[in-house]
Amino acid sequence: MSSVTIAVIVVAAGSGTRLGHSEPKAFVPLGGDTILGVALDAVLGMRETPHVVLVVPAERADETRERYAPVAAAASAPFDVVAGGATRQESVSRGLAVLPRLIDTVLVHDAARPLTPPDVFEEVAAAVRARGRGVVPALAVVDTVKRVDASGRVLETVDRSELAAMQTPQGFPRGALDWAYSHAHEEYTDDAALVASTGLEVDVVHGDTRAFKITLPADLHRAEQLVAEREGETAVAGAAPAGSGNGGTPRVGTGVDVHAYADDQAVPLWLAGLHWPGERGLAGHSDGDAACHAICDALLAAAGLGDVGAIFGTGDPALDGAHGEVFLRETLRRVREAGFVIGNVSVQLVGNRPKLAPRRAEAEALLSGILGAPVSVAATTSDALGFTGRGEGVSAIATALLMPA
Ligand code: CTP
Ligand code: MG
Repeated sequence: MSSVTIAVIVVAAGSGTRLGHSEPKAFVPLGGDTILGVALDAVLGMRETPHVVLVVPAERADETRERYAPVAAAASAPFDVVAGGATRQESVSRGLAVLPRLIDTVLVHDAARPLTPPDVFEEVAAAVRARGRGVVPALAVVDTVKRVDASGRVLETVDRSELAAMQTPQGFPRGALDWAYSHAHEEYTDDAALVASTGLEVDVVHGDTRAFKITLPADLHRAEQLVAEREGETAVAGAAPAGSGNGGTPRVGTGVDVHAYADDQAVPLWLAGLHWPGERGLAGHSDGDAACHAICDALLAAAGLGDVGAIFGTGDPALDGAHGEVFLRETLRRVREAGFVIGNVSVQLVGNRPKLAPRRAEAEALLSGILGAPVSVAATTSDALGFTGRGEGVSAIATALLMPA
């Protein structure tokens, strides 16, 4: 059973009437994903892994589970998808209904605020725990606010120093939120209002302009621009030190991977992209090809793009038994996208078996073909020392050289 004590309920069951898109709002494309997908990434960006509940239109529940369960699994986050209701309030209460008993802190978040930074979630959660009451992020109202009648006539100016615009995630001790939801008789547009209506206290902390809600087409346009900027920054942070674009210097990267031999004698051995009939296989979520994984790590490191673990989650069912070639091709795509060409790659296997020499040329030709650059493959034993010497597994060490494209 999971020991997670915090949950984030992401409400995404609205239709998005004001956005006027053919898809429900949360399923509208944003930055190569959906509004919901971008919101989920922010939630999973929290340092403390939460239990995530996505509340979506009933007819979208299966598709949502299929698409996003692997994303949550890659972050080791417990994950539920539930069908929403006719109002936001009903959707939240359906999310609340599935929370495990151990959850003591609940954050309710609008999927329609996908660019809310993870630190807002963390700040709200910390404040809820420290104060033992509801906490809501909010921004000061900067415009002058007036009360206006139905005919458009100004009635009075409202003192804006007492006003604040509410955002999400809104956080509560679980008991308080459950209690308030079971006692609310009216419809409220946010959880703070509902909780306050039952006489419980709610505090405000500083919100973040990036937590704005996508309501109208212009908001979606703004979100697209912010995502593009953010991705540009990531690419710059990763690639600029290489000097790409300014005729800069080459970059090297190193990668190491280790796989134990599988207990099951029936597992085939895949190493350096080749199948080795009659040899004992390696254990792993994928095919256990340590050489290919080490090469990917070396390439990603050289490009400043992180590592294999971060990109190919072990929870991804698509990678179950996947061959090294799948990892290499995706890594190559990312490296090229970041503005590099591969100079060369070298990988050395450390282990007693298999004997590489008879198939070295074959391995080098295969890997060079996949990466479109020279790959040299070497092997050594570790002189009977350590786990490789005892024949418990194989390790591989790779170095990659990249050049600005
Ligand atoms: N929401 C929900 N269930 C509903 C209504 C709204 O889960 N029955 C969610 C929306 O998906 C959104 C958040 O509550 O993430 C805030 O609602 P809003 O911005 O009003 O979204 P919509 O109701 O979808 O948009 P509109 O009001 O323009 O139709
Ligand atoms: Mg609405």
